[in-house]
Amino acid sequence: MLAEIEKIVRLSGKNVRESVDFTVTDKGTRENLVTSADIENEKFLKKELLELIPGSVFKGEEGDDVPVAKEGYTWIVDPIDGTTNFSRGIPEVGISVALMKDAQPYIGVVYNPFTDSMYTAQIGEGAFKNGKPIRVSNRSFEDGIFFTAWCAYDKRLSAPCFEVSERLHPRCNDIRRIGTAAVELCMLAEGAAEMYFEIRLCPWDFAAASVVLFEAGGHICSFGGPLDYDNPCPVIAGNSPKNLMSVADVVVDVFDGKRPY
Ligand code: IPD
Ligand code: CA
Ligand code: CA
Repeated sequence: MLAEIEKIVRLSGKNVRESVDFTVTDKGTRENLVTSADIENEKFLKKELLELIPGSVFKGEEGDDVPVAKEGYTWIVDPIDGTTNFSRGIPEVGISVALMKDAQPYIGVVYNPFTDSMYTAQIGEGAFKNGKPIRVSNRSFEDGIFFTAWCAYDKRLSAPCFEVSERLHPRCNDIRRIGTAAVELCMLAEGAAEMYFEIRLCPWDFAAASVVLFEAGGHICSFGGPLDYDNPCPVIAGNSPKNLMSVADVVVDVFDGKRPY
């Protein structure tokens, strides 16, 4: 199954890499973009993945947001994670495909077609990048790289996110913002970074990468509880429970212990 999904995602990556004459529009706020390549790729993935598992449910960012099925298989797909990067030719983009089984994460595939980086994982079977096993680093918080963002699509939430950054920056090595949550979480899984926080991600941003991260020995959760694969939620991750908690403590303090939406 994983090999079949990988084949489909690789093919979809070729389409994304080769699309040139795409149109760009915004949805909701001027920062939140969608291109014709996002729409076409979701259409392609939907057709291929539903054919691969007849009777499965398809949840996708561009128009297919449905609940995860309690029983059986559900796909959670972001056809292009990092649309702003893609629309400007910045080669940091992830095609993100998760397969849920009985509402639990089961398989995750994240592919950057521009760097040809293929992250794959299945629960209980380990995590891989281009076929080689990957593992989180054992770096301390002080030596850690912190991936974060400041809620570009809802700037009412930006100020507290900057406060989290301001408080953590002096305590860690440095901060990075790459622009694709799916790839950033996979980079944490391969040991390139150590901590992660975003106040609002959608299930298609993190579902596939969460499987890769679990299987690489990483830790990921939401605000005081597990990830919500049905609704937008805060996401905090770390290479170790200790480093995750160091981020979570600051997030909870800055947001006064309450989720802001
Ligand atoms: C976005 C990217 C970005 C993150 C945003 C996401 P999109 O997804 O993952 O890194 O900061 O929260 O919505 O819109 O490019 O698919
Ligand atoms: Ca996304
Ligand atoms: Ca997207």
